[in-house]
Amino acid sequence: MTDSEATEFKQITRSFFEREWKEGFDIFYKAPTGEDKQFIKFAEFDPQDDSRLDSLFERENVDFYINESDLYKYYQFNILKHLLLELAEENLSAWEVFRMVYPVATRILQDYLEISASDTFLELLDEIPEVLAESVEQENPPFFELFTITRKENSIHTHCVNVGLYCLCLARELGMDLKSREEIVRGGMLADIGKKFIPEEVLFKKGELSEQERQFIRQHPAFGKKKLNELKRYSGTVLRMAAEHHENFDGTGYPAKISGKSISDAARICKIADVFNALTCRRSYREVMSAKQALMYMNKDLKAHFDPDLLTTFILYAVRQ
Ligand SMILES: [Fe+2]
Repeated sequence: MTDSEATEFKQITRSFFEREWKEGFDIFYKAPTGEDKQFIKFAEFDPQDDSRLDSLFERENVDFYINESDLYKYYQFNILKHLLLELAEENLSAWEVFRMVYPVATRILQDYLEISASDTFLELLDEIPEVLAESVEQENPPFFELFTITRKENSIHTHCVNVGLYCLCLARELGMDLKSREEIVRGGMLADIGKKFIPEEVLFKKGELSEQERQFIRQHPAFGKKKLNELKRYSGTVLRMAAEHHENFDGTGYPAKISGKSISDAARICKIADVFNALTCRRSYREVMSAKQALMYMNKDLKAHFDPDLLTTFILYAVRQ
């Protein structure tokens, strides 16, 4: 198999077809070794008639693939185009904008992270931060609405988008301007992108991690910064959010153990968003917390980890009726 062929085709599972496809696409399978072509078209998926799918997936030892360019086009011309048109036409509240953007952003990140789609997939997210940042121009949505929109799954893609939204709303509470808010939401969504390079069996391991595994996971800020830097499309704000979102205000974080205002403003915002979302989402190693429990825990047991002014602002937003 040539490298280009291997990266163009992405393996798909049955659940891949359960999303709302408006157009069909070709399904491929991997040819036996010795054939000229490595991937051979097997069938066309028709969203109007998916009756063949179950029998297709019942076949043993056959893996199916999609050409990545089909998937990219699906997002670009189908999903995103319609989303941006709808958002431009209507006078929507921030909560409505969040609710429309959320499933699209999470799905793009899911494909980027889970089927190892190429880095060009991140470009699909380019316009989303601006739309979100504009939506809170007048005011933030009430915190309970924001909390309801953010899904509480134990997955990286929902974590990324949740963190982006919490970062945005904290930035809005702080009175940050449109451009700054845009960078904050972009950086929040991309801060954990380095987890793409950590195997799932380590990331989602049930039970205690070995010291070696812990050290490996702790490399994700550096992996993320390196990847975003290589792409040469992201600001210093975004890069520092990836690199510094696990640093603690008291200097006990990782990887650089920097403290206080040596940690960038945006990364200190991201730290609060990241921990709050982690505590309120399902994890294999502990019970999920309510918003109130998480805020109390952050303000008591973890207090030294956060910029105190930012934490106070976040809590005041959360408790405001
Ligand atoms: Fe992280």
